Amino acid sequence: MIALLILVIPLVVFLASVHRQSTPNQPPRLGETIPFISNVWQFMTAKNRFIMRVSMALRTSPIVQCQLGPLKSYFVTGSEHVPMLFKSTMFTSDPWVIHIIKHTAGYFPVDVAKFLRDDSGSSRQPRVRSTKDTIPASERIWYALHQNYNATLSGPQSVKTVCTSYQTFFEQQLTTVLAAKGNSELLLFDFIKKNMSRAAVCAMFGPDIIDTNPGFMEAFWKYEGLSEPLTFGLPSWLNREGIEARNTVRDMCTRWYKCANYEFAWERLEADQDTIWEPIFGSSLSRGLARWGKSFDFSTEGMGPVYTLFLIALNSNTVPICTWVMMELIKDPDLLQAVRRETTRSTVLSGASTQTLDEQKITSIPLLQSIYAETLRLHVGILITRTSLVPVTVAGYSFPAGTVFHAPTQVAHLDEITWGVPGHPASEFWAYRHTQERITKNEKGEVEKHLEFSLKGPPGAFFPYGGGTAMCAGRNFAKAEVLLTVAILVSKLDIKFLEWLKPDGSPSDRPAWDDTWYTNAVAAPPDREMKVQWETLA
Ligand code: HEM
Repeated sequence: MIALLILVIPLVVFLASVHRQSTPNQPPRLGETIPFISNVWQFMTAKNRFIMRVSMALRTSPIVQCQLGPLKSYFVTGSEHVPMLFKSTMFTSDPWVIHIIKHTAGYFPVDVAKFLRDDSGSSRQPRVRSTKDTIPASERIWYALHQNYNATLSGPQSVKTVCTSYQTFFEQQLTTVLAAKGNSELLLFDFIKKNMSRAAVCAMFGPDIIDTNPGFMEAFWKYEGLSEPLTFGLPSWLNREGIEARNTVRDMCTRWYKCANYEFAWERLEADQDTIWEPIFGSSLSRGLARWGKSFDFSTEGMGPVYTLFLIALNSNTVPICTWVMMELIKDPDLLQAVRRETTRSTVLSGASTQTLDEQKITSIPLLQSIYAETLRLHVGILITRTSLVPVTVAGYSFPAGTVFHAPTQVAHLDEITWGVPGHPASEFWAYRHTQERITKNEKGEVEKHLEFSLKGPPGAFFPYGGGTAMCAGRNFAKAEVLLTVAILVSKLDIKFLEWLKPDGSPSDRPAWDDTWYTNAVAAPPDREMKVQWETLA
């Protein structure tokens, strides 16, 4: 022990002296008690306290430098600087994405190498400084992946197709739960987590991925809960449980992919059929991922991690966001009633006997849009990360190519000056924050009042989906999925609050707050459960 101290103390003193040497023309630094250790330790173990310190530091300077272990990076806020990070000619998220596919998803080294080799970027035009300017588009792996998202996920037709399947699956789940439990007490977060994610997986990949893998959804949620430490890329002996959980889901995805790929009649697929939902692969996004993998020579086993990572993207944010929306509505019966009124108007008949909700109408209701934006503002806590491709100047400071920057959503989203209004501080939920009243006259000349959705705030004040070419490809589906789920629940059920529960099931004397385990990674789920009484509406 003494020998260890003799070795360690001089090293820490040396590092401290190097660390404290003031570097001219550098942004202020986030202090740390033990150089190279305190910040990274807090970043990994007390994430909320870490981001609060960053937030405080960013009040006095729009850029703050931070030593995270061996990595020096810069935290940025403000309407001039955050949008700059989204310029794909100057900044890239590629190194960060490589980190995620490698550690969080467990892509095989041979496949990670394909991303590492291609520095031409995700845009249609290869990066000017790319060494592969002349390579054909078919070999540009980043670009091909983005093309697939554009063609199969982001557009209105893709969203409509997946939403129609999602609604069918979610309604089936709800009918099953109601048949089993009837009008009874229910744990809200548990219900949404189990049923929303199951319906989303069936809509995106078809039901076989769940049906042929007993315990699939349970294995997924276990992995999801352990996925954040995986991102740190710790050696397996330090995160054995996380790696095992990831590999379990990866193996299940591989098993399903093998069968789906064998059964699917690829050669008979007509281009115009590719927009439909079919039970083997599910959505066109799912078939698109398979085609993309084939064109870049992924092995069958190599496709497991591709679908594993997509499962995280699909569920990790929408499930907590939908839960928070429902919790706010249940806490405020008048608001719930207002939402019920609005959504009932948007019900459309899709066939002789079935009633489905029109996702375009639902996502255009001003009050629902405002509630959704407000929930994202309060609960999405993500560090958007970019690396500079060229020498850049940010907030008056110069940085070489290869510098890492983070834009924390919490700092911008909770800014009192931008979002606070009298009686409704930025830290609190207010359903009408992003609406304004418009007064018009109808044909009879009578005055009518309408709500309009209006997201105020300068550029860089609200970016729950990131920005630029790396911006969330699933954002349109996410919004439709969350609001459809809310609309289905409020239009079919009368739901009343009973009590808050701690994770161990005992009563809690406070409502739910953000679960800080998820800070900086995805939307935070609630750290308390809401027990409700529900009854089907006549
Ligand atoms: C409320 C829900 C969601 C939030 C807050 C969210 C947030 C994000 C963020 C912050 C990023 C990184 C963006 C950047 O670095 O600039 C991202 C990427 C991505 N998200 Fe989402 N997401 C949500 C839902 C979804 C859903 C439902 C899907 C799939 C259906 C999805 C698919 C993706 C994909 C594929 C990417 C990678 C995009 C790329 O690199 O081109 N997301 N998301």
